[in-house]
Amino acid sequence: MSRPAGSAVPFKAVVFDAYGTLFDVHSVASLAEQLFPGKGETLSQLWRQKQLEYSWLRAMSRRYKPFWEITRDALRFCAMRLGLPLTTELEGRLMNQYSSLSAFPENLQALRDMKAAGLALGILTNGNRDMIEVSVRSSGMNGLFDHLLSSQTVETFKTMDSIYALAPEAFGCRAREILFVSSNCWDAIGARWYGYTSFWINRGAMPLEQLDTEPHHTGRLLTDVLSVARA
Ligand code: LAC
Repeated sequence: MSRPAGSAVPFKAVVFDAYGTLFDVHSVASLAEQLFPGKGETLSQLWRQKQLEYSWLRAMSRRYKPFWEITRDALRFCAMRLGLPLTTELEGRLMNQYSSLSAFPENLQALRDMKAAGLALGILTNGNRDMIEVSVRSSGMNGLFDHLLSSQTVETFKTMDSIYALAPEAFGCRAREILFVSSNCWDAIGARWYGYTSFWINRGAMPLEQLDTEPHHTGRLLTDVLSVARA
């Protein structure tokens, strides 16, 4: 059913996670494979997992360190774990790759369509502000977001309340009036725990995390969000 022109959309904003949702963290795998043949995929998977573990541990124990630095720490651990000769030069190349991750192919148009539908958009991420600004610019997404919200403001990571609190504060509304979109199931659940209406983009056909809560909505691609956001 079409909505009469000028009527309000049901959500005050749609807020996206960055890594894994807008930007493909595993796009580093091809460089990793070039540098360490046969190990690229494993390194990429382990690196991401370790980066998240460090974010959760540091949040729980109030030992904040910017996401860029924990990403580097995670890379160093993984290289040791896999017995890879990570020189300063190779570390620099891999980290540099992380600062210009590719966006998933459908994302730019999906975001433009949401903007055109009158939705306010934001990013809420563990990432450093400059990491996000570079990725947004290099994927042609500048001008689409009303707020880029980073863990650096509150010096902690998801799933702590204080980081999820940033979007309702920025958009001046209640969390449930925001559709929070993440490809990380744990993040979509963390957001629902906080009070958002949440949408899990299950790109990898992954099982639901067993955390006694389900995201409100599930889809496969960012293009699936629009119909829920304006329903
Ligand atoms: C982020 C991580 C969780 O962007 O992907 O916040």
